[in-house]
Amino acid sequence: MKSNPSTMILGMGYAVPDKVLTNHDLEKMVETSDEWIRTRSGIERRHILEEGKTNSDLGTESGKQALKDAGITATDLDFIINATVTPDQQLPSTACIIQDKIGAKNAAAFDISAACSGFLYGLIIADNIIKNNPDKKILVIGTEILSRITDWEDRSTCVLFGDGSGAAVLGKSDGKSGILSSYMKSNGKLAHLLYMPGNGVKHPTSHETVDQKLHYVRMEGKETFKHAVKSMSEAAKNALKFAGVKKEEIDLLITHQANMRIINALGKRLEVSEDKVFSNISEYGNTSAASIPIAMNEARNQGKLKRGDLLLLAAFGGGFTWAANLIKY
Ligand code: ACO
Repeated sequence: MKSNPSTMILGMGYAVPDKVLTNHDLEKMVETSDEWIRTRSGIERRHILEEGKTNSDLGTESGKQALKDAGITATDLDFIINATVTPDQQLPSTACIIQDKIGAKNAAAFDISAACSGFLYGLIIADNIIKNNPDKKILVIGTEILSRITDWEDRSTCVLFGDGSGAAVLGKSDGKSGILSSYMKSNGKLAHLLYMPGNGVKHPTSHETVDQKLHYVRMEGKETFKHAVKSMSEAAKNALKFAGVKKEEIDLLITHQANMRIINALGKRLEVSEDKVFSNISEYGNTSAASIPIAMNEARNQGKLKRGDLLLLAAFGGGFTWAANLIKY
């Protein structure tokens, strides 16, 4: 193993809404079936944020848990990075709203927009800040309220998405645990395969944009699927290569939870045995930037992720964006 980590995960937390929408509930909303959704995606349920609550509410909850788990207080934070494509509002960043809600008065706060790769992009930014400033403490959150940008009449997308938030506090490595290597990439030429046309300056909101449903996410599922497997595999292999780690050494693989078939295909390509591939997509669906940190928390709670384990993370999302991290947890 080549790398000498600078940055480690000091604590983690997550928050998901109580309200559950099952495949059988969706059968009553669009022409679909529990069987189709389960066999095509592996999803059985998804959690939906109640009306009146927002991205910053869930982000605050997961962020507070991560702080408690790390044994630090909000005023110890130097940065808050919130990865999201479903902010409370366009201005200011949701990270600033979270900063206020948790009382992190010494922090600089900003959002990053990298869709489902957002949390890993956040880890990479945090790692690079800490490499140069070892005393900094950084809260990286991935929060998405995809239910609010979903067209609930479009069966090709509405069965896939859910809401949630996951967070990690990053700080100086203890010399044993930490981020060993990272890889990140994008391809804007493929932006048209997964996008939301409205809610930006290209189509300022008007009665027409609402009538045309430009404020909802659109996706070419089949094409996206192919790129997801190929790109996450490339990212994961590079992260392993950069750290000089062999695939057999991996203790746990957590990929973006978009589709069970994608997760299984990636496990096969990387030759990681099934018992080392974590998934909770059946419970939450695709929660974009929140999916990996929620899975990390649940893996730890189930005893599948322990200190000292070699954890490989891989993500893929709209942009397209993709990334991987190899972490000695
Ligand atoms: N219920 C029943 N039938 C449906 C549904 C539904 N909910 N949705 C689509 N169908 C139909 C289609 O109309 C199509 O019918 P046709 O053959 O008569 O035209 C048929 O089912 C097959 O559709 P496909 O698109 O071929 O289905 P596929 O096997 O590709 O699965 C899915 C679709 C689940 C969307 C898959 O392609 C996928 O998961 N794609 C990748 C998603 C992803 O990775 N996203 C990444 C990031 S997400 C982010 O960044 C927010």
